[in-house]
Amino acid sequence: MAARSPLINVMIAAAQKAARGLIRDFGEVEQLQVSRKGPSDFVSTADRKAERTLRRELVKARPNYALLMEESGETAGADVSNRWIVDPLDGTTNFLHGIPHFAVSVALERDRQLLAGVVYDPVKDEMFWAEKGQGAYLNGRRLRVSGRRELDDSLFATGIPFKGVRDHEAFLKQLGAVMAVSAGVRRLGAAALDLAYVAAGRYEGYWETGLQPWDTAAGIVLVREAGGYVTTLEGGPDMLATGSILAANDQLHGTLGKTLRAGA
Ligand code: IPD
Ligand code: CA
Ligand code: CA
Repeated sequence: MAARSPLINVMIAAAQKAARGLIRDFGEVEQLQVSRKGPSDFVSTADRKAERTLRRELVKARPNYALLMEESGETAGADVSNRWIVDPLDGTTNFLHGIPHFAVSVALERDRQLLAGVVYDPVKDEMFWAEKGQGAYLNGRRLRVSGRRELDDSLFATGIPFKGVRDHEAFLKQLGAVMAVSAGVRRLGAAALDLAYVAAGRYEGYWETGLQPWDTAAGIVLVREAGGYVTTLEGGPDMLATGSILAANDQLHGTLGKTLRAGA
């Protein structure tokens, strides 16, 4: 069983607490599908409530740290070197439609470096966590990226742009290029879990653009600590600033990048 640091314990406890509320609300959402308007107001309330729980728990444990949260934005902290980066509900569209695939994502950045990440899928009770230099884990089991080396037996994940999001044409070219050479492409709808699944060796790789820091911060730590590589689609280091991400096992990161860029 992996030894969890006090920091990881704080992050896990906060994620679990927020997730308990989300699971209760998810039960309601399933009932609300039949109404014409659907459960959208209810889901925004559930999302904000989960964020308040996370804020309360994280501030209680580390009162001086800064916060970057999806719903409430930046909160400055007296401690300028530490910042939590939080998505209270990643996979909102799934949640809204009663699809049981969503997560709470919590990362800690120290001196502008990602230090620790927790991604919790409460439906499957899968707690993915990682700390720089300490490895990545699923519940108590050590994670390692997949060992597959060939594109044609590799499974990839992505995010499909939707209405109001740019670059549909570029995405279709990328998808075409990967479809033609791989065993398959999935779009499960929660970026934090897509990265966690690369760390767990379930996918060989994952790419997406147009993301926000809270979608990817925790997952980046997971992939790195499981022995994978994460860059922007162009191969650069600024994933959080650009919202562009390419994560893969050590064998296929370069090949997937070339395939995507050749397709675009
Ligand atoms: C979204 C999910 C999705 C990705 C979107 C994100 P949200 O986050 O991670 O997989 O494709 O771009 O915005 O809105 O569910 O927190
Ligand atoms: Ca998100
Ligand atoms: Ca969200």
